[in-house]
Amino acid sequence: MNIQGRAWRTIFASADGAAVEIIDQTSLPHAFHVRRLETLEDMVHAIRTMQVRGAPLIGAAAAYGMALATRARTDDAWLAQAAEALVATRPTAVNLRWAVERVRQVLQDIPPEGRCEAAWNEAARICDEDVALNQAIGRYGFGLLSAMQLKKGTTLHILTHCNAGWLATVDWGTALAPVYMAHDAGIPVHVWVDETRPRNQGASLTAWELGKHGVPHTVIADNAGGHLMQRGQVDVVMVGADRVTAKGDVCNKIGTYLKALAAFDNGVPFYAAVPSPSIDWKMEDGITEIPIETRSGEELAWVQGRTVEGAVLRVQILPEGSAVANPAFDVTPARLVTGIITERGICPPDQLKSLFP
Ligand code: MRU
Repeated sequence: MNIQGRAWRTIFASADGAAVEIIDQTSLPHAFHVRRLETLEDMVHAIRTMQVRGAPLIGAAAAYGMALATRARTDDAWLAQAAEALVATRPTAVNLRWAVERVRQVLQDIPPEGRCEAAWNEAARICDEDVALNQAIGRYGFGLLSAMQLKKGTTLHILTHCNAGWLATVDWGTALAPVYMAHDAGIPVHVWVDETRPRNQGASLTAWELGKHGVPHTVIADNAGGHLMQRGQVDVVMVGADRVTAKGDVCNKIGTYLKALAAFDNGVPFYAAVPSPSIDWKMEDGITEIPIETRSGEELAWVQGRTVEGAVLRVQILPEGSAVANPAFDVTPARLVTGIITERGICPPDQLKSLFP
């Protein structure tokens, strides 16, 4: 997407071919920094600290992590160690393991001296494919949104949770790709952006990227969605996913489930935009089977923001000594999901398998 007239991806090989560059998402929305990662350890750190985040993007980042590892060594034992380190960074998004396994599979058929080049090529391919998948999701979702807007006749109000825009992918985003396409086609859309505590991916990232693209949006407190739905102010909920099971249970940022419950109660359609690498065909029941990442309590206890003087600071908002629990994802059961938007089309959650026979 464009930032100040220049097209950006969230991750790319450096011009000298010796490193990977990322947009550091921990600096947004107050500063735009590109970081250069030169080693496997740099990439492990970037994923763990969420300089890169979002399921498709951490898949792409992990693939480049394997490529960076091959700059040090290319023997099987080292590659197994690198894969393990990358997979351990974040447990919930299945894209990470998918991408690491894909690179390893390619490398196993190649002699050690050819593995470095092959790993870089495969990582670049995964990135290009991610862009194409998201564009396809965007086109299907665009059809959905434009039909809804045509029926309604006035501005279409879309509620989204967390960040499933281009910052969460290599480009375009999943849930926001249809929104960008609708906006670009002149269809009047407005996005309700859940702030998405505790890390505020909605307030800091979704609001930033929608603003840069000129898409009308309003940030709301996480708990406002149900109220807006009761008053008819939300036409559709669109979210991304970190892992979707074969029967269509959708795991996404904590709080998504509550939005789905409110949408169900108010007859508001609830869609998840899901590229196929986010589907875990080995799992059926999301609630019992998907590993849910537990993150540090510091994310609740502290918030980062800009002071009136312009300094970016972290401040503590909890009293000393209070216990904190911070599960980072939840599972929305398939029965609450109206449809899943994939690169192959849109289907009810229980018909995913028919789209991917
Ligand atoms: O913890 P994060 O920021 O990596 O969580 C990201 C999400 O939950 C997104 O909604 C999901 O990955 C969307 S897929 C574009």
